[in-house]
Amino acid sequence: MTAVLVIGSGIAGLYTALEVRRRTDAQVTVLAKGALVESNTWYAQGGIAAVIPEPGQAGERRLGLQNDSIESHVADTLAAGAGHCDRRAARILCSEAAAQIQRLVDLGTLFDRTADGDFAVGREAAHAASRILHIGGDATGAGIAAPLVRAAQADPGIGVWEHAFAADLVRDNGRVTGAVVVQNGVHRVVSADAVVLATGGAGGLFQHSTNPSVATGDGVAAAWRAGAAVADLEFFQFHPTSLNVAGHPLISEAVRGEGAVLRDASGRRFMADYHPAGELAPRDVVSRSIALHLARTGGEEVFLDATNLGADFLAQRFPTLSAVTARAGFDWTRDLLPVVPAAHYWMGGVVTDTAGRTSVPGLYAVGEVARTGVHGANRLASNSLLEGLVFGARAAEAIAAERMQWPAVEAEALSLAPGSVGAARADVQRVMSDHVSILREDAGLRIASKQLADWHSNGSSVAERETANLLLCSRLVAASALARAESRGAHYRADFPDTSAPEGSPIILRRAP
Ligand code: FAD
Ligand code: SIN
Repeated sequence: MTAVLVIGSGIAGLYTALEVRRRTDAQVTVLAKGALVESNTWYAQGGIAAVIPEPGQAGERRLGLQNDSIESHVADTLAAGAGHCDRRAARILCSEAAAQIQRLVDLGTLFDRTADGDFAVGREAAHAASRILHIGGDATGAGIAAPLVRAAQADPGIGVWEHAFAADLVRDNGRVTGAVVVQNGVHRVVSADAVVLATGGAGGLFQHSTNPSVATGDGVAAAWRAGAAVADLEFFQFHPTSLNVAGHPLISEAVRGEGAVLRDASGRRFMADYHPAGELAPRDVVSRSIALHLARTGGEEVFLDATNLGADFLAQRFPTLSAVTARAGFDWTRDLLPVVPAAHYWMGGVVTDTAGRTSVPGLYAVGEVARTGVHGANRLASNSLLEGLVFGARAAEAIAAERMQWPAVEAEALSLAPGSVGAARADVQRVMSDHVSILREDAGLRIASKQLADWHSNGSSVAERETANLLLCSRLVAASALARAESRGAHYRADFPDTSAPEGSPIILRRAP
């Protein structure tokens, strides 16, 4: 028995655990299905978006010649979200950023600083101002995760279990009361007063992803099986620039933020054909433009040209990426980098209120697995790490206060019968990549839905359970994509290219009883 069971050791899970401990003496157990640091968080590059007010300026700050404000961060978040954000959640995200950044600093996080000691800030696509705090140039995730890991390991009230796979949630009388955990082949039930899903995303749904292999949608699948409402599953963000080599490593958007440009095979800058902001258009727009451009002109990849940034600047500002590109055989001070979009971030997830409470009593969700509505149909760059902090802290506060008003969520009941044909993970990824990725249309979505419905994945090994989770998530994504007969944010339907109304309404689903 533990008081609080946190499933996941990325920024959202670790921060929630630490924040629970800061407020209470409750025993917390944190599960990681691999090594503690194997998470999307660890690999985050560009940074964390935050407007840090100067004392007495009530949310305004002046950075060189550039004014910035919380209002501007909110406006950018809403604009990138394509009319689909929960405005209240977006405001909370942006206005509570500075306090959480201060907490990270207190925990020993060493953000990059200017010579004057201010936070060094970078620019990323669809941000009106330079407001991206970073660490080690382009190693922000590890720079944030390492102090969180240290703090969690130093706290005797936090038990950390590595290689511990949460296979399912346990329910009793309509309340989640724990999880079935598999560790070293042994199954056991871990009971808890509160269970927090912090399992991250599901890049494993697609053939090419920037995510590490732990991102297999386990949290959404487990929440679905437990009867929790899920929403916005059709919105999956593809990052425009993954290096087109094995593993598809990410080339941070911050590189374009510093002035790198995209060229096609003929060497032409093409993004201006698609959006006035060119390479700094919102992420969904850039990825879709690359896909459309390749469909029109042929070819398999486009090219990121960072040669104008200079060798010294590239080495100093992007040391990790300098090493990544060199390992792949490129000298990016002189070579153009072949890039393609790759699955990066799932906007959809388990429906929560702004305190992380899901629709099932006893169950919270924080970070990428949650659907707070903050990202709408397309997440603004560098808002995800921030989400883990802001909503992790809020969930911790709710857990500590034992506020048990669970939100009533109206969801459409959906029944999914198991298929009869065994399927491998690669089969699921192929169908999703062929029909349910950046460019979608009715016929392809129907082919995918039918194929996915025919399949099942049985077995009790962790890998088999992950594949079953991916299959379940893929069926939910395809069903949601078919149901949304419009284009909005990351969801593009060639047969419905327009957005139906300025403000979107979510598709909220729940397993039929
Ligand atoms: P994660 O960090 O993914 O952690 C999930 C945890 O859950 C892991 O510990 C995993 O082991 C565990 N887990 C999963 N399933 C189970 C299970 N069944 N049982 C037990 N444990 C389980 N966002 C930004 O804001 N800025 C950036 O610069 C940025 N760069 C990125 C670069 C890359 C390469 C990638 C992949 C993502 C980037 N993102 C960035 C997105 C961001 O990193 C993630 O959205 C965010 O870190 C998610 O945090 P999380 O805590 O929700 O999940
Ligand atoms: C990046 O560095 O481009 C990733 C930023 C993000 O996903 O927010």
